Amino acid sequence: MERLLVTGGAGFIGSEFVRQAVERGYDVTVVDKLSYAGDLERLKTVKRVFTFHHADITDREAVVQIIKATSPSVVVHWAAESHVDRSISNPSPFIETNVSGTLLLLEASRQSGIRLFVNISTDEVYGDLHGDGRFHETTPLNPSSPYSVSKASADMLGRAYLRTYGVPVVTVRPSNNYGPWQYPEKLIPVTIWRAFRNEKIPVYARGENVREWLFVADCAEAVFDIIQRGRPGEIYNVGSGEEKRNIDVVTTILRILGKSDEQIEFVQDRPGHDFRYALNSDKIRSELGWKPKTQFAEGIAKTVAWYADHMDWVKRKL
Ligand SMILES: NC(=O)c1ccc[n+]([C@@H]2O[C@H](COP(=O)([O-])OP(=O)(O)OC[C@H]3O[C@@H](n4cnc5c(N)ncnc54)[C@H](O)[C@@H]3O)[C@@H](O)[C@H]2O)c1
Repeated sequence: MERLLVTGGAGFIGSEFVRQAVERGYDVTVVDKLSYAGDLERLKTVKRVFTFHHADITDREAVVQIIKATSPSVVVHWAAESHVDRSISNPSPFIETNVSGTLLLLEASRQSGIRLFVNISTDEVYGDLHGDGRFHETTPLNPSSPYSVSKASADMLGRAYLRTYGVPVVTVRPSNNYGPWQYPEKLIPVTIWRAFRNEKIPVYARGENVREWLFVADCAEAVFDIIQRGRPGEIYNVGSGEEKRNIDVVTTILRILGKSDEQIEFVQDRPGHDFRYALNSDKIRSELGWKPKTQFAEGIAKTVAWYADHMDWVKRKL
């Protein structure tokens, strides 16, 4: 079975990927620095053994040594600073981890010879949409926030390593993920936590911004399809097609919990807030046969139920 080196495997999506990878029988090595967003508790339920390296991807020596020791055939690069609001208050760690860290990993992978480098990007690299339309893989990048600029840089570095050095990089651009184990600073877990506690729920501007919501297990499955059948040099958008306004996400959660809309508090908009993201994901659907299995209505109910059972974990994170 193939050896996977997974960066950011103790994070929200990375840990779902690791759980599925181990179940599928892959030989898995995780590298994670366990930032505020990383937590090995997410991997507690993993039944088979996997190797864990507590390391920072910006530490050249550590990265080179881990790649040498594990000789992975596939690198799956999830590790990142991931919260837009934090990037607005302090962009530097985003440039360090997302840009310099990605560069270091690409360079170490180039030296070692791998079958595939899966570079996890985001739909945010395209910038925002007003009106209709969807981003295609060929849409020019036009990122708005320090976070999305750092991700666009990492995305383009991956493509440069393919073109210049022949490193077999495949680029993945998923839409907004949600599901169990998401760090409680993002819209959905914040809303669930505050709704439960009968606290005010902050919503930017009038909550009109639109995101395309993808259940985390479906995102991880897309990456397995890419590992098995994706081609180096390609870019794959991964979206559910289910667009929701933030306000509708929040009221859906309030309905599930039987809470009142009076908990909603509109707050000053995020600076530079992208209005809408929407992906055209025809390519991964037609070329690789991937499609999401979990509709938003089912996924959000599962997510709320999971948080209801894991309030202690959320409390420890805040
Ligand atoms: N969450 C989303 O909706 C979404 C959507 C599209 C793309 N993405 C991308 O998917 C990836 C995972 O996102 P997430 O939401 O799971 O993020 P997350 O913040 O939950 O997890 C990030 C993980 O990376 C680790 N990490 C951070 N800096 C590191 C460093 N310097 N060295 C080693 N490890 C480090 C953290 O400890 C954490 O475990 C990111 O690349 C993100 O940009 C996320």
